[in-house]
Amino acid sequence: MTVQKKLIAGNWKMNMLHMDAAALAREVVAGADKAPCDLLLCPPSTLISWVAETASGSVVAVGGQDCHEADSGAYTGDVSATMVRDAGASHVILGHSERRHGLGETDERVRAKTEAAHGAGLVAIVCIGETEEQRDAGETLNVLSSQLDGSLPTGDNGFAVNGKDTVIAYEPVWAIGTGRTPTVDEVQAAHGHIRAHLTASLGEQAEDIRILYGGSMKPENAADLLAIENVDGGLIGGASLSADSFLAIADAAPA
Ligand code: 13P
Repeated sequence: MTVQKKLIAGNWKMNMLHMDAAALAREVVAGADKAPCDLLLCPPSTLISWVAETASGSVVAVGGQDCHEADSGAYTGDVSATMVRDAGASHVILGHSERRHGLGETDERVRAKTEAAHGAGLVAIVCIGETEEQRDAGETLNVLSSQLDGSLPTGDNGFAVNGKDTVIAYEPVWAIGTGRTPTVDEVQAAHGHIRAHLTASLGEQAEDIRILYGGSMKPENAADLLAIENVDGGLIGGASLSADSFLAIADAAPA
């Protein structure tokens, strides 16, 4: 098992124009050397190449927020995994709940995109998480298993993923942008379940796959969330739009 640093990733979502993004990316890059963890910024597609240029030569990596599963073609408005890579990204977020629930993206589609991302040499950050309704019905762990089964590429012997090409992000849908977070016990149960499900297929190699927590992570709660067993980092939305709060979360990561 490789012991890895935590990964703190900022998902800027559909925010930031060039001028503000310039300042934010520069400030994150300036503070990155002191961070005890790996850092990743995921700007909108329009800013990937610019943020990648700003981060070039630093420890900050850059990711996209989605990609199409086809390599090229008549898909107006979409970008392919190869294009995301070509723009300077090393990672791509896939299956975010805002795409699953807002745009009807299915597990099958997320799997196809994950395969495309791997084919382009990108690390896929595959998002899963239960809705509030599913949580209230006690279905959380089943939903997580089923999303993993449907969204991850598979081969003859189970999941065809590893710690170098795939990161899982557990993002309870009801915790995103709401200021609400699951309890420490709930996060521990969810992450432990994800790890066990990956291990059932991949054996001890599953230990190398980072499992991020996402949903209202802030400087005030980051230390508690990042200290939980099997929480290997965070996927940060709102709090990643300020360098101070993003870097404060990074500082809270146990080395
Ligand atoms: P918030 O941190 O704003 O809750 O968003 C989390 C998220 O969706 C990250 O992908």
